[in-house]
Amino acid sequence: MAKTGSYTGAAKWLHWGMALIWIGAWIVGILATHWRDEFNAHHELTFLHKAMASTVLFLIVVRIAWRLTHPVPALPGSMSPLMKRGAFVGHVMLYAVALIGLPLSGWYWSSVADKPVMVSGLFMLPPLVDPDQSLYDLAKGIHTYTAWLCGALVGGHVLVALKHHFIDKDDVLSGMLPGRSN
Ligand code: HEM
Ligand code: HEM
Repeated sequence: MAKTGSYTGAAKWLHWGMALIWIGAWIVGILATHWRDEFNAHHELTFLHKAMASTVLFLIVVRIAWRLTHPVPALPGSMSPLMKRGAFVGHVMLYAVALIGLPLSGWYWSSVADKPVMVSGLFMLPPLVDPDQSLYDLAKGIHTYTAWLCGALVGGHVLVALKHHFIDKDDVLSGMLPGRSN
């Protein structure tokens, strides 16, 4: 498939929209859990966290469909084959773990705990599995550890994007920024 110098407009909207939701959900998740008495006494942040984050389960379907049917920019020739492979593996991890695995693990946790999930606060997500309190600690552990792992993954992703722009001075970040269509 032909390569262009920039992501398509829709790919940029999906990337930045989902990045905003994802980072917002991550911060709200931390505040909800670790500053429970201060900010989450009536589970309002837990509701917000689930309402925001559950939209990722729907947006990712659109994003992957778009990704598979549209060209993406070629990586700069200055990158070694090893770096290119690293970029590919990093992106696959972001899709598989941060954008699919993590929201699925939150949905699984809420399902075993028999707690409702209101997508965008608008409609209820059906349970993924039957409630089972004996799986509560396992589900909580999976979501919590995956959330921290993904925090590191996304932090690394942002640092690499900034390195491309400010140190390597190549087109990788500008290809994802608004305003340049090719
Ligand atoms: C974008 C996807 C998501 C991200 C980035 C994310 C991130 C987080 C983080 C960082 C925490 C705090 C972990 C800790 O240190 O204890 C958390 C907690 C939590 N997450 Fe998620 N999560 C996501 C998706 C979901 C989904 C889809 C659900 C449910 C449908 C969910 C349910 C929960 C619940 C119930 C908590 C505990 C909140 C509390 O104890 O009040 N998460 N999440
Ligand atoms: C300030 C935050 C962010 C910056 C500066 C940023 C920057 C970028 C850049 C420059 C690219 C293009 C890389 C390339 O062409 O090789 C990219 C791709 C990507 N980003 Fe981000 N990103 C951010 C946040 C996020 C977040 C929060 C996620 C998901 C949790 C994410 C997931 C992805 C994925 C999956 C790709 C690969 C796109 C593809 O080729 O299909 N990004 N990002």
